[in-house]
Amino acid sequence: MMALFDIMTYPLRGKTVLLRVDYNVPLEKKKVKDNRKVLASLSTIKLLLKNDCKIVLMSHLGRPDGKIDENLRVTPLAKELESLLKHPVHKLNDCIGEDVKKKIDSGKPKDIFILENLRFYAQEENNDPAFAHSLADLGEIYINDAFAVSHRAHASVEAITHFLPSLPGLLMKKEISFMDQALLPQRPAVWILGGGKLDKIPLLKNALQKADHVLLGGALPFAFLKAHGISTGMSKVDAAAVSEARKIMQMKEVKKLILPPDFVVADKITPRAKTKTVMAQEIASDQIALDIGPESIKLFKHYLRKAHTIVWNGPLGYFELMPFAEGTRDIARFLGRLTAVTIAGGGETAEALRKFQVDDLFTHVSTGGGAAVEYLEGKKLPGITALERNHKHFRKRSDRLKRR
Ligand code: 3PG
Repeated sequence: MMALFDIMTYPLRGKTVLLRVDYNVPLEKKKVKDNRKVLASLSTIKLLLKNDCKIVLMSHLGRPDGKIDENLRVTPLAKELESLLKHPVHKLNDCIGEDVKKKIDSGKPKDIFILENLRFYAQEENNDPAFAHSLADLGEIYINDAFAVSHRAHASVEAITHFLPSLPGLLMKKEISFMDQALLPQRPAVWILGGGKLDKIPLLKNALQKADHVLLGGALPFAFLKAHGISTGMSKVDAAAVSEARKIMQMKEVKKLILPPDFVVADKITPRAKTKTVMAQEIASDQIALDIGPESIKLFKHYLRKAHTIVWNGPLGYFELMPFAEGTRDIARFLGRLTAVTIAGGGETAEALRKFQVDDLFTHVSTGGGAAVEYLEGKKLPGITALERNHKHFRKRSDRLKRR
């Protein structure tokens, strides 16, 4: 990681700050249904208020594809923030333009504005420099506290850093620091990878490099069972994943991989499904494996108990339905009681931890979904690279000014 500006030492007092947050949250009846991302943004906002800054928040919400969508206005986000912060939040009707600029310019220190949904403009997702310039024109400093969208090279994440001194917010710093701990863990390190998607192979490859043991749940084990010639019934698997699994089986690190020895199976995915537990070699042709079984839970705990660092991405079974939730619930509660550093990433994992009321017991639950996965895969996120480049550029400029 290259150097970044530090929000704790940067001269912020009285400045107009453009603060990129990720308030992409689920709504229900025009209200925020899950406010974790808003809560996570409060420390930076409070720090800016303490410094008498004028704050201009910007976020996207959903995927309106460059068009105005009445259901995706940021009004519920402004209300949620206002009630959490107990401080007025002025919601603006656009994100660029004369009127927006005038309103912000006539604001006072400690005023908080929130721009309308950035993705109402196609230019946002196109990383358009002119659009980014219009946003930059609204403030003096740019802060990226939106780790969860930093895997997107979008105008309010990437292009904007070409115009203003740009620094990471407190949440961004925290996310980077825990993601780095996951990638450079105190050993023994165990990664748990699950989830229903079969595109986790790059993540699995990196896990095999970084961890001492990698425990597999969700849909991933079936690719390996199939590659071993074991029938997996109707369980989720595809040819591409099996072929990737075969490649991984050639790697020397494959000995770190721990597959579940048993599964909970059913013939359909319903809340009242009749389930049974079978060994991995015994999944019948009309059965779907939907959770790890008790032997697997026991085996997983054996590895987890000895770990110093545990990284978890992806639930172990179809946890949304009671009959298939036990593997995820039992392991989640077990991790909650350990003293190891426990880091969870990914939208579904965070949802599961919240459902089983253990999210507060984890050392860190990332606000990132795709962003956390990409970081853990070992990729550089464009939003973070942009902050590094910006630091290099603006630091040189201020050094030059000091020398004059
Ligand atoms: C998220 O919720 O993961 C981020 O806000 C990114 O959203 P996107 O996948 O629509 O870009």
